[in-house]
Amino acid sequence: MKKIIVTIDGWSSCGKSTLAKQLAQELGYIYVDSGAMYRAITLYFLRNHVDWTNPEEVHEALENISLEFVFNPISDRSEMHLNEENVEYVIRDLVVAEKVSEVAAIKEVREFAVAQQQQMGKGKGIVMDGRDIGTVVFPKAELKLFMTADNAVRVERRFKELFEKNPNISLEEVKANLEMRDYIDSNREVSPLRKAEDAIILDNTNLTPEEQFKKALRLVHDSSKAM
Ligand code: DC
Repeated sequence: MKKIIVTIDGWSSCGKSTLAKQLAQELGYIYVDSGAMYRAITLYFLRNHVDWTNPEEVHEALENISLEFVFNPISDRSEMHLNEENVEYVIRDLVVAEKVSEVAAIKEVREFAVAQQQQMGKGKGIVMDGRDIGTVVFPKAELKLFMTADNAVRVERRFKELFEKNPNISLEEVKANLEMRDYIDSNREVSPLRKAEDAIILDNTNLTPEEQFKKALRLVHDSSKAM
């Protein structure tokens, strides 16, 4: 079967990465979590007190950032490394989540990340999830999915995930962060979150991860055969 590019875009906490990982594993494709790149850049900005409203500071900071996905055989997945440090876990903190949409809205930051993402897709056989993958990064991808789910379901899922790491977190905090990110991600000037015209909507409010996976896998096979 021919290798294709699969893009998965959608709102925060829709289960994009769960599906993307499952597909990549089943198909022997590369999985790229593009959000991790924006999160790692945000972490660098926060740690180094970069004033990201100042284009010169942003430019200089980006010159000092090297991002790499490194496979970890223990967790059996690729993890985000920022300047050779594994930051896969710290980039999931709410401190980063609170600022990442602001950072991801900066034109130069997006250009920096998109160029690397396009490079990773050169050989096809890739599943990438994010917000602008089907619209900007790979507008010619063979299969584009746009994921969505009810707000309450998304908040509950993210809360469960974060609560495991931090029992002090509240549902309200998580809800507010999700709403804020959705708002900024879909209203920013550069590459806002939107469904590509030729993307297929996957609403998983009432789907189990297995059902969703089967549905998506069928779509991949269909797209691959149609090539
Ligand atoms: O998918 P995530 O929640 O890890 O993404 C983190 C943030 O990065 C999210 O607020 C939107 C932004 N993002 C983006 O603007 N473009 C992408 N391709 C991926 C993520």
